[in-house]
Amino acid sequence: MPSVSHLYQEMQAFFAPLWPGEDKPLVFGEGNAANPPLMLIGEAPGETEVIKRRPFVGKAGKNLDEFLTLMDMKREEIYISNVVKIRPTEVGPTGRTRNRAPSKEELALFTPFLLREIALVKPKVLVTLGNVPLKALINKKITIGDCHGTLMETPSGVPLFALYHPASIIYRRALLPVYEGDVLTLKELMQKGKLTFEPR
Ligand code: URA
Repeated sequence: MPSVSHLYQEMQAFFAPLWPGEDKPLVFGEGNAANPPLMLIGEAPGETEVIKRRPFVGKAGKNLDEFLTLMDMKREEIYISNVVKIRPTEVGPTGRTRNRAPSKEELALFTPFLLREIALVKPKVLVTLGNVPLKALINKKITIGDCHGTLMETPSGVPLFALYHPASIIYRRALLPVYEGDVLTLKELMQKGKLTFEPR
């Protein structure tokens, strides 16, 4: 039986030779990989995630805790992953390494593995944070501003609920009540067992 750990071994073998000499560790998904109520998908790991080799720890972990509190759920109940499993970095003007958005090439390399990960985990709903996972799973043209807080159909057959990325709320405080309202909409849909697609 294929499992996510087999998939991760395959990814390790596939990606290791791609960037010889560069330190680009993969940060895999974690949590309940057996038909969880929800699979949360972020963009890519950051610095703390790479150090700990775990998704959504550090600052992003705090955002995740707030999400879980609103949802009345525990971290172990859900599955947590990212589209891109390496930390995309660049050197900033001060010479310090900083995060950057994943490149087209990185997205093209990692998205097929994400689709396989979803097929193995079989969550009841996919919850994407921000534009990157949304565009990877639905299509390139859709944007979070158009569809946050609604359930959408995906080619994988698993419904997708789009949320703003909590990190974007730090820069746009007006989004906080929108984000929280969307999380409560998701909670209600899940509690009522209404994870069916809405016509768009
Ligand atoms: N950490 C993650 O693992 N994913 C994100 O999208 C942001 C921070």
